[in-house]
Amino acid sequence: MLDVAAGSGAFSLRAARRGAAVTATDFAAGMVDLLSSRFAAEGHDRCTAEVMDGQALDLPDRRFDLSVSMFGVIFFPDIDAGLRELARVTRPGGRVAVATWDLAGFRLVDLVREALARALPQLDLPAGEPVWARIGDAAGLAAALGTAGLDPVRVHPVTRAWRWDDPEGFFRRLPAWSPPVQPLFEVLDADQIEDGAAAFAELVADRGGAGDGAGIDVTALLGVGVRPGGG
Ligand SMILES: C[S@@+](CC[C@H](N)C(=O)[O-])C[C@H]1O[C@@H](n2cnc3c(N)ncnc32)[C@H](O)[C@@H]1O
Repeated sequence: MLDVAAGSGAFSLRAARRGAAVTATDFAAGMVDLLSSRFAAEGHDRCTAEVMDGQALDLPDRRFDLSVSMFGVIFFPDIDAGLRELARVTRPGGRVAVATWDLAGFRLVDLVREALARALPQLDLPAGEPVWARIGDAAGLAAALGTAGLDPVRVHPVTRAWRWDDPEGFFRRLPAWSPPVQPLFEVLDADQIEDGAAAFAELVADRGGAGDGAGIDVTALLGVGVRPGGG
């Protein structure tokens, strides 16, 4: 199988542990180095990690039984190119699986924005939808997979609780795991970040209900399509 934008290997490692021969790719060399060392440490000698742009894979046509990209194509400037490439390298009858966020069920971005607006009313935050909004609902994701040549296509919503023992700490660390937030945090001073963290903690307090503590429910969409022609 192929994992595009594999990152540190959340999916690839699970597949490898189930016996899959995995080609993992990512355009960040640091991710590829980390995942290579993880494959080696666990003895997965049929698995490799390579630096590659998911919009232009340096891989032959019809190579893989399964090609996935988990929360990867949402970062591509050309999402359709990423989906076409996943379909191209999959064998006829093989499957493509793509995970994205359900925009209506992923309120983290809005909550961060609202926390900053509460803490810093003078800050003029750009409004608007993310570039991947058109694959941020089931119909849009299904349509994009269809346009990439996959048929049939199904989209499965998956909802999980996301809880934080330390919501302020989570807010402070946002730039470490969400590169799009970095430029914003770079223009804030330490007091402003603390004010934002306090507002965020207030917003997510007991959101899970039933006294579960701070957190939100998040919904991902898993789109799965078949490359036609498998007989
Ligand atoms: C949110 S992470 C997801 C990682 C992994 N799939 C997971 O689910 O944990 C997004 C990954 O996309 C990679 N990425 C972003 N744009 C890319 C591109 N054009 N080609 C390949 N990888 C890309 C980043 O380097 C990052 O590792």
